[in-house]
Amino acid sequence: YCPADIPESERVDCHPESDASVQECLDRGCYWCENTAENVPWCFMPRQAGYRMAGSPVETPQGYQIVLDRINTPSVFGQDIGQITLDVEFQTEQRLRLKFYDASTSRFEVPITISGTGTAPVVKDYDVTFSNDPVFNFQIKRISTDTVIFDSSIGGLQFADQYIQIAGRLDSDKVYGFGEHEKSYFKHDMNWKRWAMWTRDQATTDSNLYGSHPFYLNVEQSSNAHGVLFLNANAQEVTLQPAPALTYRTIGGILDMYFFLGPTPEEVIQQYTMSVGTPVMPPYWALGFQLCRWGYTDLDHLKAAVGRMRLYDIPHDVQYGDIDYMDGYKDFTIDPVNFAGLPEYVQQLKSEGTRFVIILDPAISNTPSPGEYPPLDRGNAENVWVRDYTGSNPQEGQVWPGMVYFPDYTRSATEQWWTNECVLFKDELDYEGLWIDMNEPANFVDGSDEDPPCRDNRFNNPPYIPIVGDNLLWKKTLCMDTIQDLGMSYNTHSLYGWSMAKQTLPAVRSALGRRSIVFSRSTFPGAGQWGQHWLGDNWSQWYNLKASLIGVLDFNLFGMPYTGADICGFLGTPTEDLCRRWQQIGAFYPFSRNHNHESYPDQDPGMWPTVANDTRNTLLIRYRLLPYLYTLFHKAHTTGGTVVRSLMFEEKNRLSVVTIPPFSHPLIALIYTSEEGYIIPVQQPANSTLFSRSNPFGFVVSLDDNGNASGDLFWDDGEAIDTQGTGTYFLGSYTASGSTLTGTVSHDGYSEASNLVIDDVEIHGAGTVTSIVINGVTHSDWNQHPESQEWRETFILPGEPILASSG
Ligand code: GLC
Repeated sequence: YCPADIPESERVDCHPESDASVQECLDRGCYWCENTAENVPWCFMPRQAGYRMAGSPVETPQGYQIVLDRINTPSVFGQDIGQITLDVEFQTEQRLRLKFYDASTSRFEVPITISGTGTAPVVKDYDVTFSNDPVFNFQIKRISTDTVIFDSSIGGLQFADQYIQIAGRLDSDKVYGFGEHEKSYFKHDMNWKRWAMWTRDQATTDSNLYGSHPFYLNVEQSSNAHGVLFLNANAQEVTLQPAPALTYRTIGGILDMYFFLGPTPEEVIQQYTMSVGTPVMPPYWALGFQLCRWGYTDLDHLKAAVGRMRLYDIPHDVQYGDIDYMDGYKDFTIDPVNFAGLPEYVQQLKSEGTRFVIILDPAISNTPSPGEYPPLDRGNAENVWVRDYTGSNPQEGQVWPGMVYFPDYTRSATEQWWTNECVLFKDELDYEGLWIDMNEPANFVDGSDEDPPCRDNRFNNPPYIPIVGDNLLWKKTLCMDTIQDLGMSYNTHSLYGWSMAKQTLPAVRSALGRRSIVFSRSTFPGAGQWGQHWLGDNWSQWYNLKASLIGVLDFNLFGMPYTGADICGFLGTPTEDLCRRWQQIGAFYPFSRNHNHESYPDQDPGMWPTVANDTRNTLLIRYRLLPYLYTLFHKAHTTGGTVVRSLMFEEKNRLSVVTIPPFSHPLIALIYTSEEGYIIPVQQPANSTLFSRSNPFGFVVSLDDNGNASGDLFWDDGEAIDTQGTGTYFLGSYTASGSTLTGTVSHDGYSEASNLVIDDVEIHGAGTVTSIVINGVTHSDWNQHPESQEWRETFILPGEPILASSG
């Protein structure tokens, strides 16, 4: 029972749960070979296990349909499905779908539709081949390089009611993605690392966290890249093994794989996000710095923190209200004692350029009597709650306010109720954005308060549980047989935050009539089209600062580029030096917010003069770069793709990318580490975007070896909904070549664009400058920036209109 023909690196685990024994393994019909390197499975699948094609693949307008019959091979957890169907859809030139399902029984499918035109494209970047030797297997090939990017002949295909598995050899070990987890390296460790995906309220660790993102990016040996989405919401996991290969397992739904052929990493992410939904366009103010903490004991405590921001003149676009502002932690209420006067203070903040964003948790207190808490009464009247296993009673749980019900955000009545509550509360408190938390959904008790907390059935105690934290699906959440309109929590649990964000965006838009933010702790593919994400409850430790950068890169792969970690850490007391460094790094998170846990002392930057000064200086660099950041968000919103990315994305065919000159100014390092050949739009900073938005613009021009560079500027009023759709925006393209910087107006639909002026241009790599001609006129009224060096010239110009076509 220990064959020699399967290399260790290619074993597909036949006993993924712990404590395998030889007898149990052989009973499953698998092989057993002991004494391996660490983590290599001793019990593994025979190659001849799986399914066989019942006939030849049948051609369909979009590809093929193949019927697969299970052959008598290992049964890992029983309930095997004897016949499954595979639809192969050639959806676009770069997108291929393989959908394995049970044609005789309907199974849960994630309600995200990614479809092609209905007919296969004439040319495509990929090819698929099928074989029955020794059992059904397939290879997906990139045609241009003849690279097999996924080869299932490694074996291990299983399709049981509560256990679905597929394995594939990969072309390279450069695998990125799969989330949400905290890790300190971007490229995955292929040495038998296993990662679970199942949404969970868990302070940051390397186990499954708040979101579920079954998506990976693989950079092939040729440097081409492709991505793969497993569109599945059940508890699932992946094992990354040295072959290189991966084994994917899920305990429900269907096996629905989408391949995105790129070929550049950025194109992969564009194709992926265009398929599941590109990131929503943030309001301009949301790019500013934000201050939060849990544990402002009262309004004076909050005012003191704001006071320190003002004292040190630190940019401050957003101030938060965590659950402290609520009365008894109930959504849509204000603590009448400790936060009396909050609505008036919010108005004052607004006039100073600081907007107020509030937290909302899904759980609604169910203990008030009728008439005491209208949001509960109205929710009861519309029956908006997640129900217990019977399907008729609302399920109780425990969260901040005590006993609660959980809104079922997959129900249309809930959207009306939730929107109405958000609209009504806006009249009480003039909030600008919503922070939606605890939506894994989190419950302070495991399952419920009942005894037993969850019934003993195949959903609460399935035959196999992926390596989720605590080895219990309903740890700190609802029982798996609780019911939403979309289905049982067993299937829909990881979609809770996704569905909450989906209903909260229209709610906040109705309340404000403008663009807003809905930033959510729990996420799933496609959530970026409605909301943003922060990286959850991290620790005030250097490790977490480092890991946060990987988290930001990961969420850029997942289509949620507006992301960042709690600056200075949420749990624990940061040292002054850690907080200073974190403020400096965090100034370049797309989402830049300092946030803290209630048990720890104030850590806003004004707590230490050195931190305050460094924070202000670094944030002024951020604010100078905001037009660039905003333009990147516009690109991600309209064409998909990333806002922050690893240099790996830019590396193809480049001998070297990074040259950091020995200068201390962080902006210089930043511009230099960006690739040469770009023009970056900037604007004179201020302590709020309310003021910086009226300042003159500039350009940082980083010439390449041939003296060329190009870039864009997207601009609009920063808050109207869908200016792209209504055309009320300005888009300029800028190119530098042969000592000439030329601006071309690509779209001129923003009425204020004629008031925008440019007054400084910083050129890198131009050599010595002797004269400047603007629109044919030779200018003598320019100055060289005092910090100019040979490699970096800065010109201060008289205000030139941005609409000018050449200069
Ligand atoms: C959760 C959130 C955290 C918030 C706290 C209180 O732990 O992750 O950010 O401050 O709840 O609302």
